[in-house]
Amino acid sequence: MSALLRLDGLEAGYGDLTAVSGVSLEVRRGEAVALIGSNGAGKTTTLRAICGLLPVRAGRIEFEGARLDGLGSSQIVARGIAHVPEGRQLFPTMTVRDNLELGGRAADRRRRDDALELVFTLFPRLRERERQLAGTLSGGEQQMCAIGRGLMARPRLLLLDEPSLGLAPMTVKLIFDTLQRVNGDGTTIMLVEQNVPRALQLSHRGYVLENGRIVLEGTRESLRASPHVKQAYLGL
Ligand SMILES: Nc1ncnc2c1ncn2[C@@H]1O[C@H](COP(=O)(O)OP(=O)(O)OP(=O)(O)O)[C@@H](O)[C@H]1O
Ligand SMILES: [Mg+2]
Repeated sequence: MSALLRLDGLEAGYGDLTAVSGVSLEVRRGEAVALIGSNGAGKTTTLRAICGLLPVRAGRIEFEGARLDGLGSSQIVARGIAHVPEGRQLFPTMTVRDNLELGGRAADRRRRDDALELVFTLFPRLRERERQLAGTLSGGEQQMCAIGRGLMARPRLLLLDEPSLGLAPMTVKLIFDTLQRVNGDGTTIMLVEQNVPRALQLSHRGYVLENGRIVLEGTRESLRASPHVKQAYLGL
């Protein structure tokens, strides 16, 4: 299987702080890959560097064999990468539909309507709430809307930052079931999560990030069997 996304020795940070360094990983076409780690490990920083929201200080990022680091975030979106950020980042005073349409990169109406139909099929709740202001949605509905906005661009790679955060278990299940379907339909997924049981349920493989470095990687089965993962992330 060929790598869709490859990070090689990524370093990124804020001011004097080096938040991640020497991060190397790959996401193959069709896979769902988890990046797990506790608070402050550098998960969000890694995703932000991939999306061009944070400069890459060292190392390189490749997508479909072409260099990604150094490009602006809109060029990266145009290459086929969508980012569902931590905290959802919707426009609260705009409707659900308007928020979704902001995610569409196709200028022509027909492709945008097709993408909208796909999102409404995946999340029927969003169709019911189409004209409601995003700020009045429940947390789970807001997460659906944020994922839907990402899918509007029909990405080849969907990056998700803590989609389960703050949501009730039933809502988390619904969202992860939908992500499984999205992945099964051919969209490659890279998922950042603190909810490790859920993340490993969805993902084929995963990486464990601690203090800005990858300390462990493996298949879902090998991570579940790892004494370190069991103790530190699965509470076993
Ligand atoms: N805007 C910022 N300015 C300065 N330091 C930051 C900023 N954002 C994050 N950091 C620091 O960078 C490190 C990595 O943070 P990051 O947000 O990537 O972690 P995370 O793994 O996503 O954590 P969480 O699970 O809490 O979301 C932390 O030490 C954090 O304090
Ligand atoms: Mg984070």
